[in-house]
Amino acid sequence: MDDWIDYYDSTHTIYVSKLHRDLHFQIIARDIIGYIASPEATVLDYACGEALSASEVAAACGQLILAEPAPGVRGRLIARFAPNTKVRVRSLDDVRKMHDQSIDLVVMNSVAQYMTTEELDAALINVRRILKPSGKLVLGDILQPHVGMGRDVVALLSFGLRHGFLKDALIGLVSTALSDYRQLRARIGLKRYSEDEIAVKLKAAGFASQRASTNIGHNRWRMTFIARPPLVR
Ligand SMILES: C[S@@+](CC[C@H](N)C(=O)[O-])C[C@H]1O[C@@H](n2cnc3c(N)ncnc32)[C@H](O)[C@@H]1O
Repeated sequence: MDDWIDYYDSTHTIYVSKLHRDLHFQIIARDIIGYIASPEATVLDYACGEALSASEVAAACGQLILAEPAPGVRGRLIARFAPNTKVRVRSLDDVRKMHDQSIDLVVMNSVAQYMTTEELDAALINVRRILKPSGKLVLGDILQPHVGMGRDVVALLSFGLRHGFLKDALIGLVSTALSDYRQLRARIGLKRYSEDEIAVKLKAAGFASQRASTNIGHNRWRMTFIARPPLVR
C-alpha cells in the first residue's frame, strides 16, 4: 500500500461497523446541507469517499458532483448513483478541467490531512478558480498540531457510546491498531495545521476565510473553515 488513496480504495476498517459508517455519512450529509445556500446550487464534494447519504445532499441542491480519487470507490459511486440524475461522479483530474466560476459550494471534508502540502495548495488554487464569485469552500476536519491521536480515540468512543456501538468501536480500535492504517499513519502520517497556517494557505489561494464554530462530523477537536472569494468593491 503506497498512500492514503490506496488505503481508501482497500477494504479498510476505518468504519468500525455498518452503523458507524451509515451514521458518519448521515451526519456529514446533514452538515453539508447546512452550507447549501440555494436549492439551485451546484455542489462539489471533493474526495467524497463512499458518500452513502449523497442522495439527501442532492435533494437539497440543483446538482451534486461527487469527486473521488480512489478508482474502486469511484466505480461504486457510479453504480450507486446512476439512477439519480442530480448526481455526477468525477475524478480529481476531471475537477482540474472544470470550467472557471461554475460551482457554488465546494466541500472538502477530512481530505487535507491526507494530502501533501503541495497537493493541498494546488487543490485550493483550483477550487478558487472553479468557484463562482458568490461561492464558498468549506474545508473540514482539519487536524491541529497539538491535538494527538488520543483525541481521535476519545471522539470515536464517545460517538460509539452516544449511538450504541461502543463495543464495535473498541474492537475497531484494536483492528485499526493492527492494520495498514496504523502503519501508514506512522510512515506517511497525517498533515496537521494550526488555525493561522490554514488562514495563510487560504489567503495565498485567493480566499478570505474564517473558522466555523463547529467542525463537520462528530470530532469536535478538529476544525472547519469557511472560505470565500473576497468581495470586490
Ligand atoms: C476520510 S476520507 C473522507 C471522505 C469524505 N469526504 C468524508 O468526509 O467522509 C478521505 C478521502 O481522501 C481521499 N484522499 C486520500 N489521499 C488523497 C490525496 N492525496 N489527494 C486527494 N484525496 C485524497 C480518499 O480517497 C478519501 O476519499
